[in-house]
Amino acid sequence: MNRRLTNKLYSTMSYAYQIKSLEQYQSEYKKSVEDPEKFWGDIAENFYWRKKWESVLNWNFAEPKIEWYKGGKLNITENCIDRHLATMADQPAIIWEPNNPEERVRTVTYARLHKRVCQFAQVLKNNGVKKGDRVCIYMGMVPELAYAVLGCARIGAIHSVIFGGFSAQSIADRLEDAQATFIVTCDGAYRGGKDIPLKSVIDEALIGNKTVKRVIVYTRTRTPVSMIKGRDVWWEDEMEYAETQIEKDGVVSFPAEEMDAEDPLFILYTSGSTGKPKGVVHSVAGYMVWTNYTFVNVFQYQPGDIHFCTADIGWITGHSYIVYGPLSAGATSLMFEGIPTWPDAGRFWDIVEKHKVNCLYTAPTAIRSLMTFGTEPIKGKNLSSLKILGTVGEPINEEAWHWYDENIGQKKCPIVDTWWQTETGGCLISNLAGVTPAKASWATLPLPGVQPLLVDENGKEVTEKDENGLMKGNLCMRAPWPGILRTTYGDHERCRTNYFATYPNLYFTGDGALKDENGFYRITGRVDDVLNISGHRIGTAEVENAINMHAGVVESAIVGYPHDIKGQGIYAFVIYNGHHGDEALRRQDISLTVAKIIGPIAKPDKIQFVTGLPKTRSGKIMRRILRKIAEGETENLGDTSTLLDPAIVDEIKNGKI
Ligand code: WTA
Repeated sequence: MNRRLTNKLYSTMSYAYQIKSLEQYQSEYKKSVEDPEKFWGDIAENFYWRKKWESVLNWNFAEPKIEWYKGGKLNITENCIDRHLATMADQPAIIWEPNNPEERVRTVTYARLHKRVCQFAQVLKNNGVKKGDRVCIYMGMVPELAYAVLGCARIGAIHSVIFGGFSAQSIADRLEDAQATFIVTCDGAYRGGKDIPLKSVIDEALIGNKTVKRVIVYTRTRTPVSMIKGRDVWWEDEMEYAETQIEKDGVVSFPAEEMDAEDPLFILYTSGSTGKPKGVVHSVAGYMVWTNYTFVNVFQYQPGDIHFCTADIGWITGHSYIVYGPLSAGATSLMFEGIPTWPDAGRFWDIVEKHKVNCLYTAPTAIRSLMTFGTEPIKGKNLSSLKILGTVGEPINEEAWHWYDENIGQKKCPIVDTWWQTETGGCLISNLAGVTPAKASWATLPLPGVQPLLVDENGKEVTEKDENGLMKGNLCMRAPWPGILRTTYGDHERCRTNYFATYPNLYFTGDGALKDENGFYRITGRVDDVLNISGHRIGTAEVENAINMHAGVVESAIVGYPHDIKGQGIYAFVIYNGHHGDEALRRQDISLTVAKIIGPIAKPDKIQFVTGLPKTRSGKIMRRILRKIAEGETENLGDTSTLLDPAIVDEIKNGKI
């Protein structure tokens, strides 16, 4: 280890900015709103900068233009790794729990993480990757995925991680959009009882691709792969060679690229209500400050705690609360390769016991699915290490909240219900564990720096309470926080129209919410055409396009409906005029088409064949009616008189499955 360098970067992890009481939360919140520049300037002092910023914040939502810490120079990996080396080199940064509980656990100390990240940064360099290049990462949940992400950040390449459940076509679209030149993948990934052949999906995605020059393949499952000469190389070979370059006399070093505060850190594709998924862009400094600040405050992290976020790094939750938030705070982050129900439904509880997990952060859908197994899988498991529980990704119903509280937290662990989005970088509305009050199924209060408001469809602020004393409206934000998205890759206008144009001078979240007399927020779900299936965001238009690609399908309409485990399920109404096979077979064919075009996560749960769709005279599908039918409503379908063919509604209603 290079002592000279690390001493220079050394800062203690005492979290001076960790809020400790409700009163302190209130006063910090007030300060953050009254003088955001002073507030976020002070917070930023807790990081390592090569050069300090010239101004804390410049912004307008009209363009939008949002700049935090302009003029500052830094590298996020020096904040996530190097600065911890002097005091915490031997502390675990990542504990990796493999899919198969019999396989060896890997504990990656900060010193080892430093070495691996330097090594991989050198691999990128050896392969011609430069600052600003886009690197696509399509891997299973192995520590090498974290090395790849951080290796990109170290040389200033922009990573674009794609979740392993997306199809070749989805990858091809993302590669094209990002003009990616480099891919990091695995031969395969383990997920429960399945081996997923990732490299062969990449091979399919690369047919016709013109930008990718190199594919680096990490061996995980030893599944046979085809390696194309001149394009594909093995991770192990590249890393071995890079090791000889970065290590001299036992000292490891690879100089981190000096980045501007506003340089992009990564792209993450996410679904919206229209068109193809868009590449949400986060920049280095603001994202670092936000993920760190929210990690330390929401989860009330204490040095030495084991933080277990069960998300996949293919989603924003994994980026922010497995990698960047915890590591920038010098925490120990537990990374899990498997699924909650394999080899059995006690998997999470075994992990908690085995690693003495202190904080468990998961999705309501996982809780609901584990609830169906009852409390048997929990019996005899020692969960006493748990101090804090968290949920994210979708609204949590009260029943699941109480089950989690009683059976997992044993009524001793505060539950943080964290509301946020890919676009927000980190939590915006959440209680702070044990510090601010919790309320079942309410995300509660905004974090410092977050200024929510509810508006009606005309953009007017809602101030009136309903008969239950609640305000109801569309959730917006008045001002930027450091972790807000900066643009959508290659199409800034799309960023403006999607988030900043619905209501002038406000960021629109796409969610509806309630607000109670204490100022607590409850997120009720999306108000746009975005579905939330098991916490995964999927656009209805995307699924419709995929279904319509199937030969024989004339037209389709997708709506969400309440699903006991997934939160929402996908209901497809399909007009079909092919003659091939019976209905069951057609359904399978359509599902397979969706799996090919988007990925298995977007397969419809129900497919109803119809002869027409409820359309207005101008040809617009009245989704409101379809949504009600899918929800099982038969009576109050609202006004159908403006429909071109009102009779179709009865036919659809009678054919409901
Ligand atoms: C939903 C995931 C209710 C919401 C971090 C949001 C939630 C979308 C919660 C973003 C929560 C996330 N309560 N709803 N605690 N957290 N959501 O981009 O609809 O994958 O707009 O980010 O998930 O999903 P995304």
